[in-house]
Amino acid sequence: MQRVYEWLRQPLGLVAVGIGVLVIFSAAVYGISLTQRTPEQPIQFPHYRHVAMGVQCLYCHPGALRGPSPGLPTQTKCWGCHQQMAITKTSVLLQPLVKAVENNEPIVWVPVAQVPDFVHYNHRPHIAAGLNCEECHGDFSEVTIYENPQLINMGWCLDCHKLKSKDDPELRAKLIDCGTCHY
Ligand code: HEC
Ligand code: HEC
Ligand code: HEC
Ligand code: HEC
Ligand code: HEC
Repeated sequence: MQRVYEWLRQPLGLVAVGIGVLVIFSAAVYGISLTQRTPEQPIQFPHYRHVAMGVQCLYCHPGALRGPSPGLPTQTKCWGCHQQMAITKTSVLLQPLVKAVENNEPIVWVPVAQVPDFVHYNHRPHIAAGLNCEECHGDFSEVTIYENPQLINMGWCLDCHKLKSKDDPELRAKLIDCGTCHY
């Protein structure tokens, strides 16, 4: 053990450790880009039709104002409208919802928009700064099954942070500081 430790402290050992760390990061990032592809969802939920009716994003994703995660709606929220609707009995698309309610089982949505665990992302300061959901998540008047409009990665975060702070050096220093997103 001692000898392995000594070797790791040599320049070559340090390079090996560095490569090891990079491999782990790349694996994590590769995993992320896979999970960011459009998944099978338990219900083919048509966002665009609900948004067209005027249902607010925050009605189904209220956590965005309060903290890090907007959250995904439970069946109770869906059932509030759907239990009274004739289409709920007849629509093939809605049968998984009916089953979940009858069996009292949760609907397990598959997450799409995600950052790795070593990144700290919080919705609240972004909403407080006046950004719209659409600026990051795309135009929902078209979306059926949600798909990221872009890969959510460090370059994407930094591009916007630089743009929004171009006239404010102090804010820029904060928004590009490694510790702002990694700590
Ligand atoms: C504010 C009321 C409301 C809420 C909340 C709501 N829906 Fe709907 N939903 C509707 C209405 C209205 C329609 C359109 C019915 C039509 O086109 O005739 C619809 C349509 C649908 C359809 C398409 C059905 C088809 O066959 O065309 C699906 C699937 C669906 N909703 C799933 C859900 C799920 C899942 C939730 C919860 C995450 C949910 N809805 C929450 C009102 C609501
Ligand atoms: C009636 C409820 C409802 C409304 C209104 C609604 N959503 Fe959703 N949203 C859902 C459900 C259910 C899912 C999970 C299924 C999916 O991803 O298709 C979801 C998923 C998402 C996701 C992907 C989250 C993930 O899993 O990574 C984003 C982003 C999102 N919604 C943003 C929005 C925005 C922006 C609006 C307003 C323009 C909006 N939603 C309006 C119910 C809703
Ligand atoms: C500045 C860009 C940005 C804005 C603005 C933004 N989001 Fe997000 N959103 C993200 C990122 C990045 C993630 C992935 C976060 C993670 O992994 O924790 C995400 C994740 C989500 C998710 C996934 C589920 C969850 O709880 O993590 C939902 C739903 C969502 N956003 C909805 C919204 C809604 C609704 C709005 C507007 C009120 C909004 N977002 C505004 C960047 C943004
Ligand atoms: C579309 C533009 C945009 C994108 C994309 C974006 N941000 Fe931001 N971010 C902002 C703005 C604007 C602020 C608020 C600046 C202020 O305080 O006025 C902010 C603030 C933050 C803060 C809070 C800083 C503090 O201490 O107050 C963190 C953390 C953060 N962003 C992380 C991220 C991460 C991580 C991503 C990518 C996953 C990301 N942001 C993507 C625009 C963006
Ligand atoms: C605005 C937010 C933000 C800031 C500031 C930021 N990062 Fe990141 N970083 C991310 C996000 C999001 C990821 C995950 C996605 C990816 O790998 O691009 C990431 C990933 C990484 C990774 C993983 C490996 C890879 O493939 O890139 C390393 C290493 C890293 N950041 C180092 C840094 C260093 C060093 C700084 C300061 C110079 C920094 N980051 C500043 C958001 C940020």
